[in-house]
Amino acid sequence: MSTIILGIESSCDDTSAAVIKDRKILANIIANQDVHRDFGGVVPELASRAHQQHIVPVIDQALRKANVKKNQLTAVAFTNGPGLLGSLLVGASFAKTFAFSLGIPLLEVNHMHAHVLALFIEDDAHPKTPSFPFLCLTVSGGHTQIMMVRDYFDMELIGQTIDDAAGEAFDKAAKIMGLPYPGGPLIDRLAAKGNPRAFDFPHPSVPGLDFSFSGLKTSFLYLVRDRLKEDPGFIRHHEEDLAASIQHAIVQILMKQLRKASEKTGIHRIAIAGGVSANSGLRNAVMAEEAAGHWEVYIPKFAYCTDNAAMVAITGYLKYLRGEFAAQSISPFTRYNE
Ligand code: KG4
Ligand code: ZN
Repeated sequence: MSTIILGIESSCDDTSAAVIKDRKILANIIANQDVHRDFGGVVPELASRAHQQHIVPVIDQALRKANVKKNQLTAVAFTNGPGLLGSLLVGASFAKTFAFSLGIPLLEVNHMHAHVLALFIEDDAHPKTPSFPFLCLTVSGGHTQIMMVRDYFDMELIGQTIDDAAGEAFDKAAKIMGLPYPGGPLIDRLAAKGNPRAFDFPHPSVPGLDFSFSGLKTSFLYLVRDRLKEDPGFIRHHEEDLAASIQHAIVQILMKQLRKASEKTGIHRIAIAGGVSANSGLRNAVMAEEAAGHWEVYIPKFAYCTDNAAMVAITGYLKYLRGEFAAQSISPFTRYNE
């Protein structure tokens, strides 16, 4: 008999619900929150209120699209952290109540693990999944991590950012350029038409496999500030080159540590995951390593890179197979811990 799981994601500013039948996604609905656009980042209080408005219609839509009735569900999976507490609480409370009222198991999902496990969603158009062990660069708005993935739930953090996350670096650069939040996708689009070597930025020197992006943000800010004094139209005149150059610098920092991690561990199966894995500069850089015969590369389907509940549903399914159920007393956590 098939296992049908409802996945719920509400850790940051996207309310999402997905239905998975074994490893195949039947529906993945995402409601983005426009309320943050003009603030240059997510406003936690507005995010939790928007989750409250979106959660019922999003789940209803996912079940309808999947053509699944509530009583056909085997279990409910939800993101329990890391993330914003007020946002997590909306998804967690809903998942607990829903599972309890249906008398079915509850499955707790770690958001960062879910980004990695999105690689295991079955999809005829995207059939490549990694075997273990592999390295995963998980890059999002809140995290930048290199994980050594030995098994589905055996992941070791071997490198992480000591300050800003890669997504934050994209978003802050975009904000300096006067672009709305989230700026990452906009920088990506502008960068396609710009010269990545138009502006040069110093590279951080960070020991081991860790990352740092705060120096890059500061040098970008100073460059723009100084050039605006000479030419008030500087950003407008150089939008594409600025985007291409900052994207190039961020991708260089990520690739340097990822190459180091591969050399150090001797693992050449390399995956990328998280919102920034949607970035074409990063995708091209890892694929170039594959083309050069250095790595075997794995990238989740585009729709499963940025926050979504499909990744929560597959993680829930893998936990269900292990019989790892969550208690009703479980409560959300805000920071990543292994
Ligand atoms: O994983 P995600 O959707 O949410 C978090 O868990 O944080 O990642 C969101 C981050 C944002 O910083 C966003 O700007 C960035 O991913 N992002 C991108 C692209 N698409 C999303 N950054 C660069 N290029 C993109 N195409
Ligand atoms: Zn995420």
